[in-house]
Amino acid sequence: MDSSTPQDLDEFENAFKKRLQEGMTKWHPGEYYDFEMRPFLDRMVALANLDLNSCQVLDLGCGTGQVSCYFASRGAMVTAIDCSPSAISFAQQLARARNYQIDWLVGDIRKMELPLKNYNLVIDCRFLHCVVGFTDRSKILANVIASLATNGEFWSETMVGVPRVSSGEGYYLDDEGIFWKALGEDIKYTQAIEKDGKVYSPIRRIHRSIDTLNEELETAGFEILYQEKEEPTDDFSVWMVKTRCKTRFQ
Ligand SMILES: C[S@@+](CC[C@H](N)C(=O)[O-])C[C@H]1O[C@@H](n2cnc3c(N)ncnc32)[C@H](O)[C@@H]1O
Repeated sequence: MDSSTPQDLDEFENAFKKRLQEGMTKWHPGEYYDFEMRPFLDRMVALANLDLNSCQVLDLGCGTGQVSCYFASRGAMVTAIDCSPSAISFAQQLARARNYQIDWLVGDIRKMELPLKNYNLVIDCRFLHCVVGFTDRSKILANVIASLATNGEFWSETMVGVPRVSSGEGYYLDDEGIFWKALGEDIKYTQAIEKDGKVYSPIRRIHRSIDTLNEELETAGFEILYQEKEEPTDDFSVWMVKTRCKTRFQ
């Protein structure tokens, strides 16, 4: 699974439609602004001594936009991209009501060019682990590097470890770190394999260790400035690893 991997973006659109119908305001349960990456963002903004008023921020896989609104409410100019039209439409309405400066884009980040040398900060809040293929991931990381302004930084929160539900319950994690899910009746993925009489599709790239995550980041051209891991909180039972990095190519 080294080449560009088909990704069924309908998975996300359908999931958001369902969540929004059920009254949720974002991918994960909880209050809109009470999102998991927030304490890290608070600390990193202080640590990096960022003047958010003159900051251009790019939020990759923004979902319903809580990270984008977090930055826009502090004065930053934000670009936010997601493949789910429903998520973006929800985010747009919420931000418009608050007069935030945010450019919302619907698109497949694997296939998009990003503006060159534009952003002081690029954020991956649980987006990159949704992209399974290494070719897609390295293209995205190269695009991020090219889109960073001088001294710009990339902050990421992503899954690392071996999920508790990694076998026997409709999921399994292979040796490469690809997390497979058995297809249910309501799910149609574009790529599937058969194993032990069940049909599985790749849904996440979960690095088995922080070392391999860091190797991927360093190979792409990042220098890691700070990193921390958050203990598992759900059935996936993986660490959420938070990384602050800058590019070596300035
Ligand atoms: C786990 S959700 C996280 C959403 C949001 N960042 C948050 O923290 O709530 C992953 C997000 O990535 C988006 N996504 C996944 N693959 C994408 C792609 N190829 N292009 C654009 N967005 C994508 C999904 O629609 C979804 O909103």
